[in-house]
Amino acid sequence: MIPINRPLISEEERVEVMRVLHSGRLTDSSLEGGFMVKEFEKTFANFVGVKYAVAVNSGTSALLASLLSLNVGYGDEVLMPSFNFVATANAVLITGARPVFVDIDLNDYTIDIKDLERKINKRCKAVIPVHLYGHPANMDPIIELAREHDLVILEDAAQSLGASYKGRQTGAIGDLSCFSFYPTKVITSGEGGAITTDDEDLFVKLKMVRNHGIVSDYNSEVLGLNLRMPEIGAALIKAQMKRIKRFLEVRRKNAEMLSESLDGLQGIKLPREKESCVHNWYLYTIFVEKNRDEVLESLNKRGIGATAYYKIPVHRTHLYTRLGYGNISLPNTILASEHVLSLPVHPGITEQDLSVITSSIREVIKTNF
Ligand SMILES: Cc1ncc(COP(=O)(O)O)c(C=O)c1O
Repeated sequence: MIPINRPLISEEERVEVMRVLHSGRLTDSSLEGGFMVKEFEKTFANFVGVKYAVAVNSGTSALLASLLSLNVGYGDEVLMPSFNFVATANAVLITGARPVFVDIDLNDYTIDIKDLERKINKRCKAVIPVHLYGHPANMDPIIELAREHDLVILEDAAQSLGASYKGRQTGAIGDLSCFSFYPTKVITSGEGGAITTDDEDLFVKLKMVRNHGIVSDYNSEVLGLNLRMPEIGAALIKAQMKRIKRFLEVRRKNAEMLSESLDGLQGIKLPREKESCVHNWYLYTIFVEKNRDEVLESLNKRGIGATAYYKIPVHRTHLYTRLGYGNISLPNTILASEHVLSLPVHPGITEQDLSVITSSIREVIKTNF
């Protein structure tokens, strides 16, 4: 099977991880964190183009820490797309606040500006644009609306490390931003995440929140949890950072090869980079006009790990249906959930894999169109 994504681990990562194991310092519960965590945070902030980064133990923890540091809670509402992985909405729900689901733009599968404007109300405290599949959300109008309505912008950049909008990297545009380093992501720490910001007060608070709100003497200053990134994970991702540029270049080259080869094929719509945007090609997602599920099954049978992200939008999951969201109208979200599928584009695939993928797509689409 050609997997949809897989981590690329080299000797350098092994050496860095072994350094931690030899040192015996597996974690550090001080406010600043351990040696590897601090080193990684500096490199990461520098790469994204922000002043501060705080490493945590997952992308979900990054979202939760961000919301806690903003005092989002009961009575507040947070705007976000439903066409997304469930983590974003769950992090809001667990604070006691209410997610408000917004429809998407079918050109890039990110939040739809007109629907966002319609859904803003007095209880809304924040908006979470998700740079889905690695394509940046339409940030300028989001910033304008956020200023007008006094909303905090929390970017969900879990999938978009290395993508940029009008020359600024995703993760360096909003008030604060969250990344995930789950093994399918552009770079990995095993499980892990980070928050980036230019705001020093938020930076200090985030470090407290990831550590039970403790600054010293086991004396909690604010509400937090253990959200710390282990030193082994930090060592692994610190080494991955050295290869990120290359990973992104290969993703782009692979995406270009897929686009060149599939251009003009009837029955599918290819992903496009919008003007002034740089896609990181975390996922190469096509819109299949007919029989998406049959196409998906045939590709899987041929050994191609094509995957539909996301067949069930968050508001239609059992949990959110029970919470009363099931019948809200999000027509583009439903359309996308019924028609998209993502193809392998990661740097671990070969030219031979790419030609197997494109020839299989041609055959499978022909029989299903
Ligand atoms: C858009 C989005 N947000 C949040 C997350 C949560 O990240 P994690 O799985 O590291 O908790 C993910 C992870 O897959 C994601 O894709």
